[in-house]
Amino acid sequence: MKLIPHSRPLVGKEELSALTRVVRSGYLSTGIEGEALRKEIARQFGLKDSAVVSSGTAALHLALAGLKVGPGDEVILPTYVCTALLNAVHYVGAVPVLSDVCFADGNIDPKDVARRITSRTRAVIVPHMFGFPADMKELLKLKIPLIEDCAQAAGAKIGNKCVGSFGRAAIFSFYSTKLMACGEGGVLASPDHKVMKEARDLLSYDHRQEYRLRFNYKLSDLQAAVARAQLKKLPSMLLRRRKIAEDYMRVLEGAGVVLPSSRQGTEPSFYRFVLKVKDPVLVMSLMRKRGINVERPLFRPLHYYLGLTGYPVADRLQKESVSLPLYPSLTAGELERIKTSIVDVLKRFS
Ligand SMILES: Cc1ncc(COP(=O)(O)O)c(C=O)c1O
Repeated sequence: MKLIPHSRPLVGKEELSALTRVVRSGYLSTGIEGEALRKEIARQFGLKDSAVVSSGTAALHLALAGLKVGPGDEVILPTYVCTALLNAVHYVGAVPVLSDVCFADGNIDPKDVARRITSRTRAVIVPHMFGFPADMKELLKLKIPLIEDCAQAAGAKIGNKCVGSFGRAAIFSFYSTKLMACGEGGVLASPDHKVMKEARDLLSYDHRQEYRLRFNYKLSDLQAAVARAQLKKLPSMLLRRRKIAEDYMRVLEGAGVVLPSSRQGTEPSFYRFVLKVKDPVLVMSLMRKRGINVERPLFRPLHYYLGLTGYPVADRLQKESVSLPLYPSLTAGELERIKTSIVDVLKRFS
């Protein structure tokens, strides 16, 4: 029995031909493919200005640097997120202030953010977790610059606008497991001319008149070409994700688990299908015995690393959540196997 992985990109002849095109051109570094990707992404997601970069983490670093966040400044970020965000805050020498999250969707809790704002708060990083848009309406009322983290939410919508166009800056990731994948890669976007000017200066080191500390955060044309092929497929890949999620919802209704729920007026991109169950460890191990890789949606919340307490919702999410495989390359046979197995496993708890 072949193991069904937790994630698997949908790549094939379009990506191969994109790579061949770049190799044949003899130009591998950032060039026409990167520029074309930048324009296509901006058009598709309604972004005013953007830059393609080497990862989502690089984009987060540049967003903070572009906002001139520096030593002594505070940045609020949710605890229920990967360490990439914490790293980016440390890269600029700022102080991370962790916020708790909402139980329904794992997104940063605007009420908890409000409690943690001080005179030194310079930015709030807002990931749209698992592809489910965060409460931007309430967060915008706080009047602190928001960096939307769309690493898991490319193409998700609030009303008829894609996420990434609500904050002072936004980032995307094209890491292998993401909604559109090219191995490693990302985008920084901001409607603020000053943010983009500073970010553009910092992301590359060559051909600069004056020396200052800069980075090599460029995306190669090999990766950009693959990302372009993925972007073309994104609408159909998102549709397939939605269909699979609807299928899971149907079979799991009444199975004694808490199903994913999205905020009213939003359209998730269904990056992950997160279930809250009584015993995640047992569910994961029983599913693995059936050849299905079910994982925790988050490895560890940030407050565990920092030895902090006072994040009851994130604690509960970490104790109860598991994530089912959900991606467009799942075959019909694999999907049936997952549905039958999870229903069967959950019967043990009823
Ligand atoms: C919410 C979120 N933000 C940022 C990142 C970092 O992106 P990257 O791996 O491209 O640096 C990730 C993980 O990939 C993520 O899930």
